[in-house]
Amino acid sequence: MGHRKNHAIAIAAATIVASTTPANTEEPSGVHPGPMTRQEAFARAEALTALGRQMFFDSSLSASGKQACSSCHDPNHAFGPASAAPVEMGGANLDQPGVRAVPSLRYLQAAPAFTEHFYDSEDEGDESVDNGPTGGLTWDGRADHGKDQARIPLLSSFEMGNKDAAQVVASLRNAPYAGAFKAAFGADVFDDQQDAFDAAVEALGTFEQSSADFYPYSSRYDAFLAGKAQLSAQELRGRMLFEDAAKGNCASCHLSEPANDGEPPQFTDYGLIAIAVPRNPAIPANADPNYVDLGLCGPLRTDLKDRVEYCGLFKTPTLRNVALRKSFFHNGYFHTLRDAVAFYASRDTDPGRWYPKKTDGTVDKFNDLPKAYWGNLNTDPPFNGKKPGDKPALTDAEIDDIVAFLGTLTDADQAGQ
Ligand code: HEC
Ligand code: HEC
Repeated sequence: MGHRKNHAIAIAAATIVASTTPANTEEPSGVHPGPMTRQEAFARAEALTALGRQMFFDSSLSASGKQACSSCHDPNHAFGPASAAPVEMGGANLDQPGVRAVPSLRYLQAAPAFTEHFYDSEDEGDESVDNGPTGGLTWDGRADHGKDQARIPLLSSFEMGNKDAAQVVASLRNAPYAGAFKAAFGADVFDDQQDAFDAAVEALGTFEQSSADFYPYSSRYDAFLAGKAQLSAQELRGRMLFEDAAKGNCASCHLSEPANDGEPPQFTDYGLIAIAVPRNPAIPANADPNYVDLGLCGPLRTDLKDRVEYCGLFKTPTLRNVALRKSFFHNGYFHTLRDAVAFYASRDTDPGRWYPKKTDGTVDKFNDLPKAYWGNLNTDPPFNGKKPGDKPALTDAEIDDIVAFLGTLTDADQAGQ
């Protein structure tokens, strides 16, 4: 697994569809405006960002009238959850439990569209290395862009719970920003429900590309990389262990150094990987022993359901702002950052610490991944083919050091800074 190219600049720029041709006299209209000058394109991006921001905080866009995007993606928690619950409630009566932990929405601007075969020009000079399934949004990469993703929570029965696009559009018509919506997308935008819904998710997707909100790069580690702050001795040790391929080896997936073009690190390579986090009995869906969240092969994602080699794979999240979280991994099983890190060190050397016991007293190892898929598990360091009784890749003190380092990744505008 090599270091992967950073797409931040290309993707951020791509949302602003600026034309290099001379000024076009045609008025931009409707959801798909014609060619625009650079100035017009920037003005449109700004208008859509402002609209998307209003929509993001608007609870009237939910069936309950009480849930906005920001209810789960709290701006004071890096657009992750404020609560410690592994999953949030949604639906018309806010009584339908979700099935996965709420991710932070920061540092997604650079996520490439999902692909089964990712090749990277920064891969140790070798572009022919296939890094496997990579990219996309959500824990299983099933949406490619913010505007595709935003359809999911608006219409999900356990999120904002609208029964269809028409219900969302009816709420938009009555929103205080309905006038601004028409100004941006055309006076007749509400005449066509699908156009209006497409416009709404486009505005949300554009807002998610706003750098001040979503990728400020204002952590102490960013200041350190820029030569403007120092890290403590412990944080520096943690950084070394995080990057050391024979110790934490964390940086092989959670990239921690600036890319060749100088773009700051995202702390993810967007790869989809199986690490067998313990099953979380606190998720109501898990009361059914036949329900298993297998990530890339389903059941939420349906296009790759026959690909057994993809069962158990979830997207590597950024570790920026991870210290703000109160539950960790796709199923929110762990509730302290220290446990999340310690799990890597002793998943294989001391599985009894992490997995429950079966009725016969033996450890129910990898209890959220059917045995048929165990071959999909990642075995690179820190796991490294170790077995019960072997020495873990990290000592307790080294785990503390890595946790201290992760604390430097919190953005300056966030609580606890
Ligand atoms: C009830 C809680 C809830 C609400 C409300 C909600 N989300 Fe989410 N969001 C989640 C969860 C849970 C996931 C992970 C889903 C998955 O992996 O299937 C997620 C994932 C995402 C992602 C992908 C993040 C990533 O790391 O790839 C984006 C983007 C997003 N939500 C945006 C939104 C927007 C925009 C809204 C409002 C229209 C919204 N969400 C409303 C819970 C919520
Ligand atoms: C082989 C790739 C890989 C390596 C190496 C790796 N991780 Fe991860 N990391 C992942 C994936 C994939 C997930 C999500 C897995 C899931 O939820 O099932 C994850 C999730 C996490 C989370 C939870 C974040 C959240 O938002 O809930 C933390 C914390 C974390 N990793 C820290 C580390 C540390 C510390 C190391 C080194 C000791 C490390 N990782 C090594 C791939 C990796």
